[in-house]
Amino acid sequence: MSASKAAPVRDRLRIAIQKNGRLAEPARNLLAACGLSWRESRDKLFCYGESLPVDLLLVRDDDIPGLIADGVCDLGIVGRNELDEQDAARRQRGLPSAFQALRALGFGQCSLMLAVPEEWEWQGPAQAAGTRIATSYPALLTQWLQQQGVQAEVVELSGSVEIAPRLGTADLICDLVSSGATLRANQLKPVQTVLDSEAVLAGAVLAPDDARAGLLSMLLRRLDGVVQQQDRKLLMFRAEENRVAALAQLLADAEPLVRLPGEGDVLQLQTMCPGPLSWQRMEELERAGAQGLMVLSVERSLA
Ligand code: PRP
Ligand code: ZN
Repeated sequence: MSASKAAPVRDRLRIAIQKNGRLAEPARNLLAACGLSWRESRDKLFCYGESLPVDLLLVRDDDIPGLIADGVCDLGIVGRNELDEQDAARRQRGLPSAFQALRALGFGQCSLMLAVPEEWEWQGPAQAAGTRIATSYPALLTQWLQQQGVQAEVVELSGSVEIAPRLGTADLICDLVSSGATLRANQLKPVQTVLDSEAVLAGAVLAPDDARAGLLSMLLRRLDGVVQQQDRKLLMFRAEENRVAALAQLLADAEPLVRLPGEGDVLQLQTMCPGPLSWQRMEELERAGAQGLMVLSVERSLA
């Protein structure tokens, strides 16, 4: 086969997501919120897109960057930790970048961290010098050690990293920490962050230039309309005209107040707040003259 074989022209977009695990359900929910629906295959590895020509491939998260690099999938929803690890591994092998994070998705927050036996007193990265560190993230750990100027032995394990110190195969570990329960159960404590991670939408470095291009930009626009709204709240209340200036000051982080006609000198007001509104904040607004406060979630928007 010739080396210059053209990429196959496809008119359906294919997205890889985790089959099981932390990101599986939020990833599907997010895509559903973007208006996608599927007919599941019997083995549930492939979901055929019904509402739009966008299909899902259900795989192990570790396989997602490779599927994008090989052009099997156009997009993937995967942890930044996995994407960066495989990108660093490619670079360390002298390969060019093949995938990139297109959007942060606001869920699946966790950190890649060094963790040591509970009885250790941690004084900083220099303490890792000369130790053996077990991890499933050898490329990211190697890169971090280099940046810190620390020489240590990286012990690559594909799973159950947290038991390595007890087995004596490593002195400490470098693993993902979400709630911290896994570490606690293994008498380890997190001491040093190597990478902060969350779920991202990943895509190829080279975007498709056939029918998939239009689908991709529509999907990204819908995704932004869902993800960027996740924390926003629409705040509605009534207030007397002479209280509005003080209330606007209390809402300095929100969009300018929109005044709607009310009754008499009582106005109906609304604004978009960038994040959740605490009870405390609502009570403060009430004391400043806001009546009938109502906080509404924003489901989606088109920018
Ligand atoms: C990570 C990590 C730990 C666990 C930590 O696995 O390897 O086992 O999560 O979570 P906790 O702090 O809430 O206890 P992950 O879910 O990424 O699965 P995978 O490594 O098999 O892909
Ligand atoms: Zn995994």
